[in-house]
Amino acid sequence: MSTLTENISVEKVKSSRLQEVDFDNLSFGSVFTDHMLVAKYKNGAWENPKIVPYQPLTLNPAAKIFHYGQSIFEGMKAYKDEHGSVWLFRPKDNQKRLNISAKRMAIPELPEHIFMDGLEALLRLEKDWIPTQAGSSLYIRPFIFASGEGFHASPANEYTFIIALAPSGGYFSGKVKVLIEEKYSRAANGGVGFAKAGGNYAGQFYPTQLAVEKGYHQVIWTDDVSHEYLEEAGAMNVFVRIGDTLITGPTSDRILDGITRKSILQIAEDEGIPTEVRKISVAEVVEAAKKGMLKEMFGAGTAAVVSPISVFGYQGTDYELPELSESYADLLKKRITDIQYNRGEDKFGWRHQVV
Ligand code: PLP
Ligand code: COI
Repeated sequence: MSTLTENISVEKVKSSRLQEVDFDNLSFGSVFTDHMLVAKYKNGAWENPKIVPYQPLTLNPAAKIFHYGQSIFEGMKAYKDEHGSVWLFRPKDNQKRLNISAKRMAIPELPEHIFMDGLEALLRLEKDWIPTQAGSSLYIRPFIFASGEGFHASPANEYTFIIALAPSGGYFSGKVKVLIEEKYSRAANGGVGFAKAGGNYAGQFYPTQLAVEKGYHQVIWTDDVSHEYLEEAGAMNVFVRIGDTLITGPTSDRILDGITRKSILQIAEDEGIPTEVRKISVAEVVEAAKKGMLKEMFGAGTAAVVSPISVFGYQGTDYELPELSESYADLLKKRITDIQYNRGEDKFGWRHQVV
């Protein structure tokens, strides 16, 4: 046990809500475990975290999160294998990315040991909440927001870091229909698109609502200058398969550097699948679809895992993707989830055991 773990105070709930949860019918991120981890930043330093009962927060109405949106988050999962051991997938990458987001949003960086030791201590306490039903896991939401107050438009002087846990099923209930966006943008050069900043998601909601009204689930964003190149979807990076080549766009300061994306690329290369990381024009995708060369499109992300896209809409036309008996999406999803759930070889050293 590390020094910090010994320093994490734990206040347990009087009675657990675990028995109330229907683990066979979990949706995504809508029930929360008994406890959460909280650490505060005050007087220029992060204080030791505490584990407390999951509860509402009391905040000053002038807290800067409400006015200036200083808020960042991460998304991770804990997986339980058939022996009851608990695993994380590349957790240090999430820890590092939280600090990349923090820097961009003028939030003080969180020491690695608070994130890692705090997360592990919380997971050890909540391990009975990790579902074992197929496709389910314990979704982990670490986040930091400006809890310090003031109407002056400048960074707050107090912040709160929380880790909340939600036993969850899949993010999408079936195949995904996407609309390639022609008007709105998610991110711009020099902006905050690469950060997991809360506002990036709020800004997507209205255009996504318009797409949902037309029968789609998600928007695929295009570059803000020309709207000619694919960027990413609302909650996942995007891959296309043209012929036998698997292609994804390069990351940039407009696109989240997805941990699933880079893992999928590495697994695909390991499988001998030809891969390309390059700009993908919408014209090329439409052309490939018309010629029958567009074999697959899928999204990749922690919540979405690997989510096949069945239809994409563009300029008023819907293009259907074929049903393949041996898809890259199925193969890559199996390989990555076998690593995550400790069912297969961890060739790249990505698994991290908690219990
Ligand atoms: N892109 C966006 C906008 C996301 O919110 C996510 C989810 O975290 C991803 C991509 C995928 O990233 P990761 O694979 O690290 O979860
Ligand atoms: C994740 O995949 O963990 C995310 O953060 C996406 C989120 C918007 C559900």
